[in-house]
Amino acid sequence: MSEIATSSPNNLDAFWMPYTANRQFKANPRMLVGAKGMHYTNSEGQQILDGTAGLWCCNAGHAQLRITEAVSRQIAEMDYAPAFQMGHPKVFELAARVTAMLPNGLDHMFFTNSGSESVDTALKIALAYHRARGDGARTRLIGRERGYHGTGFGGISVGGIVANRRTFGTMLSGVDHLPHTHLPEKNAYSRGLPEHGAELADELERMVALHDASTIAAVIVEPVAGSTGVLLPPKGYLERLRKICDAHGILLIFDEVITGFGRLGASFATEYFGVQPDMLTVAKGLTSGTIPMGGVVCSKEIYDTFMTGPDNMIELFHGYTYSGHPVAAAAALATLDCYKEDGLFERANDLAPYWEEAVHSLKGEPHVIDLRNLGLIGAIELEGIPGKPTARAFDAFLKCYEKGVLIRTTGDIIALSPPLIVEKSHIDQIFDTLRMVLSEID
Ligand SMILES: Cc1ncc(COP(=O)(O)O)c(C=O)c1O
Repeated sequence: MSEIATSSPNNLDAFWMPYTANRQFKANPRMLVGAKGMHYTNSEGQQILDGTAGLWCCNAGHAQLRITEAVSRQIAEMDYAPAFQMGHPKVFELAARVTAMLPNGLDHMFFTNSGSESVDTALKIALAYHRARGDGARTRLIGRERGYHGTGFGGISVGGIVANRRTFGTMLSGVDHLPHTHLPEKNAYSRGLPEHGAELADELERMVALHDASTIAAVIVEPVAGSTGVLLPPKGYLERLRKICDAHGILLIFDEVITGFGRLGASFATEYFGVQPDMLTVAKGLTSGTIPMGGVVCSKEIYDTFMTGPDNMIELFHGYTYSGHPVAAAAALATLDCYKEDGLFERANDLAPYWEEAVHSLKGEPHVIDLRNLGLIGAIELEGIPGKPTARAFDAFLKCYEKGVLIRTTGDIIALSPPLIVEKSHIDQIFDTLRMVLSEID
């Protein structure tokens, strides 16, 4: 039997890194070894200002004492409790607190460990819901071009980012996609929501005409598409989707994995836009990125539909070993305390105009072809180098990192989403650095 290694040479080879150019990274690694407040510390001891809240998740800032203490207390008190046929108090409290933040009617929460699992869970609930109502022919799922819903087979099937799909076979059958809402010729340099494109929601009517509503289970969209490079919903678009779904008995799912927990300066996008889905998925900001946790909030109507039949029967044959994990639940409760006690959603809302000015101050800088913003989200779209897509933005990423600012790129788009504790001076640093870098890169 092989020995369990207790130490090994400093070798980067064994770890197959996710969504990373492994060979490029390993030739020139960027190692983070500490995090506090708005900053990471790298292995060279350099402070790196976090312009991306990790991966859109550390909304409360790094190493918040209330969260770290709650996590250590919980591990000592009870490290794990079986998730099936057993319970523990914190997860019930958490579900009650999250649903209390949402409009009436979004009353029940199922727990997962990630955004990807939340999406797969929501899609499964949608299918099982229609079947439970005796409408089992509704099996078709509709996503959107350029959508990102994580990496499970459900998520990549309804997702619309080509690179995430093309090498993974046929995925789920019976999936269709709405057109994306990016109309740069009409909407470039919009501040906040773009004026043009609400009519793109009417494509759902064409799908109903093609497939018949009786075959369609659900539509899933990100209220603000993040990972594809920040595409904002045109004014009136989400309202129109809701109306069409209602007219045809189709469930509407909002993937709020990045928009949830204050990113837009409101608890959730559903509050920000005043449009209520039948289900919404969360993860990331739920625990401020500290411990993996996700969830699906669903309507009373959906939940009640399952709560029929003999009461000794399991109503939904779905769940994860770590659904509602006690340590994650403790982290999430402490995270909600931080959001509330420190007024972080209001803070994001108050800072949004300053942020918008900062984003749009890059108009006219080299390579910039569009700027987008909403809440504390910003996007800087660069003109790609002909024949070398992604190279220019990645170069900007490397140069910003060298200068002590973490940004994120997708294609030739720079996406920004700082922790909600960000100060105006940090915003200035992010955009001053970007301005400098844009003039330095080819
Ligand atoms: C909208 C959306 N859905 C789902 C996911 C997947 O989340 P995870 O990486 O936690 O599986 C993400 C991650 O970025 C996301 O932005």
